[in-house]
Amino acid sequence: MRLVDYNEKLRLFTLSNNSFGYAIYLNDAGYLETVYFGRAMRDYSDFACVREAGEYASPRYNIRTAREEGYRDGFKADAAPLEVSPHGTWDKRGAPIILRGARGGFETDFRYESHRIYAGLPVEEGMPHAHGAGAETLELTLRERTYNVLLRLNLSVFSDKNILIKNFALENAGGAAVKIVRAMSMQLDLPSADYDLVHFCGRWAKERDWCENPVHDGVQEVSSNLGRSSAEENPFVILKARGADETQGEAIGLNLIYSGNFKFRAFVGAYRGLHITYGMNDEDFEWTLAPGERFAAPQAVVAYSAEGLGGMSAAMHRFVRENLVTYGGSRADRPILFNSWEGCYFSFDTARILTYIDESVRIGTQLFVLDDGWFGARDDDTRGLGDWRVNLKKIDLHKVMAHCKEMGIRFGIWFEPEMVNFDSDLFRAHPEYALGMNAGRQELSLMRHQLHLDFACAAAVENIYAQMKAFLSEYPVDYIKWDYNRTVAEHLSGSLPPERQGEVYHRLVLGYYTLLGRLTAEFPHTMFEGCSSGGGRFDLGTLYYCPQIWCSDESDPAQRMDIQFNTSYGYPLSAIGSHVNDSKVAPYRTKAALALFGTYGYEMNPELLTEEEVHTLAAAAELYQKYHLSVIEEGTLYRLCAPHSGNYMCMQCVSQDRSASLVIFMNKLKEGDRFRFIRLRGLDGEKRYRNDFDGQTHTGEYYMRVGLNFSREWLGEFDCRLVLLTEEVL
Ligand code: GLA
Repeated sequence: MRLVDYNEKLRLFTLSNNSFGYAIYLNDAGYLETVYFGRAMRDYSDFACVREAGEYASPRYNIRTAREEGYRDGFKADAAPLEVSPHGTWDKRGAPIILRGARGGFETDFRYESHRIYAGLPVEEGMPHAHGAGAETLELTLRERTYNVLLRLNLSVFSDKNILIKNFALENAGGAAVKIVRAMSMQLDLPSADYDLVHFCGRWAKERDWCENPVHDGVQEVSSNLGRSSAEENPFVILKARGADETQGEAIGLNLIYSGNFKFRAFVGAYRGLHITYGMNDEDFEWTLAPGERFAAPQAVVAYSAEGLGGMSAAMHRFVRENLVTYGGSRADRPILFNSWEGCYFSFDTARILTYIDESVRIGTQLFVLDDGWFGARDDDTRGLGDWRVNLKKIDLHKVMAHCKEMGIRFGIWFEPEMVNFDSDLFRAHPEYALGMNAGRQELSLMRHQLHLDFACAAAVENIYAQMKAFLSEYPVDYIKWDYNRTVAEHLSGSLPPERQGEVYHRLVLGYYTLLGRLTAEFPHTMFEGCSSGGGRFDLGTLYYCPQIWCSDESDPAQRMDIQFNTSYGYPLSAIGSHVNDSKVAPYRTKAALALFGTYGYEMNPELLTEEEVHTLAAAAELYQKYHLSVIEEGTLYRLCAPHSGNYMCMQCVSQDRSASLVIFMNKLKEGDRFRFIRLRGLDGEKRYRNDFDGQTHTGEYYMRVGLNFSREWLGEFDCRLVLLTEEVL
């Protein structure tokens, strides 16, 4: 069967692979009715009549003929599951797109005009987007009934993944400008509301808490209006069918390839169906689309699984690794990173950094990163942002880089390109580059003593680009940590006229992508890591450019285990920057075990490590070198015990050839002697594996049926076991 198909006789579009199917009926009036989204079926032809059940159809008055008319095929205009609900008609569930044209009204009514099916995925210039082989796309073109505006609805499906990509793009084919006042990426109508909604909310140092609520009547919303995808709410959400769990039942994961304001809205109305719209937040949004212009909403990613949350996550993980990240460097190249921040903060000089480098090499460091404090007058966080010139009085970077080379390791550095301190040369020379400065306000909100640069203003972006390019030309670093340490408060841009102020939020994100896109293209061998006060911009938009993102400023395992575990629902471990720091709650052995379930690194004063600690960390580094790529990066993750539903956190990764597996088991509160058998997953039942916990060898079947035996032990608070299983080849 083809991945995408159109049965003209039945007026039925289908997108289907071995895992799931999606069917759309083109009705008589030109609306696209979503008739199926679920497990793959052999034959979809019966769906054309699903919607014919029942007799009632919505009436309409035809002004031209002055007569009442029904729809010939029984369309129920306020209730039928649709791909694009109109606005200002019978349908009041919430349209994904709303336009205002010359007449001033809000009515927006798109009807089918044509379609095409092609191999590959749509490319949205200037926006991060899905890519890669094995996909087919259905592009449906609709036209607004009053304004000459075209809507392209793109749906793409992969041959080998249970992932659906959706987005809308608008084109003004008329002679007059229109305003877009809502531009979501997708609509999804499901005929049942029997789901639980899982979202990941939090705050600084407590990102992505597990929040689960039943889908209920009326409206539920998960959103950010903070200018970034945010620590407060992550754009990744899950619809979990009632009764589904980690290993069984239907789970639908949704995410946006976007880093700014978003809104996931679920509405359950009178007919009990679930109506979802998802995309850029429409709060304070308004976009002028001039004749001939195009506006593309970010792509939405929908993962479908009939095998529970685990299957859904596995699809998202493979999608991110194979169809999203564009970093040119080799996937095998995930160096062990030492970051200077928590070890010395702003107080360092060349001698200290050289000592750090020497010490850090002893624990396996392959990439040394100098964090905040190396530029301008940046001796604390009140000044210097925006002045990306090396503070030569403080640090001799040439010497530092030469030393790294001598030691056989690479070098990276910290930037925060979208920000400015008012105490900086950049602000003194160009106060107009700060967001809100030219807007006639008396005061502006400060966060961490800094203002947000107006990245809607091309000159501001160009200024930072020129500074970064000059730096990179003189100091060809291997890595850049790209930070973003405040949210957007006043969103007034001096660079845009009054009628375009509704474009600011989105233009800030486009400015971020422009700069990051340009630099990653010009310096393809420099690895960029995302960061935003820890994990405040952990999203698919950033991952397109950055293969990994600093997950949280909280590295204490007591909190960190939840943060990393929960992040794994939507994002692969290979994207999760995780470091061992010197928090005192747990020993280095525990902190290293947890950091190994991500991209491993360090953040501490290495001079304070005891010989025993150096030994522990060097051993963890060796394990990382040996198993990270095959087991963590390219392996399959199994979540065995969720910390939000019990005393344990347990994750397991298995290499694709099922020859090796790593298991991390942690408990929260201390616990006495009891039975604790942790049943593993994903092993080859017939193979024999030796585990390095009790040194025993068992079959894969034994580990999966009986389990790893952690019984009869007293566990202290945040105690941890890291177990390596390796196939025993006789
Ligand atoms: C943010 C980051 C930290 C560090 C500091 C530097 O908080 O999350 O890792 O880089 O900024 O100021």
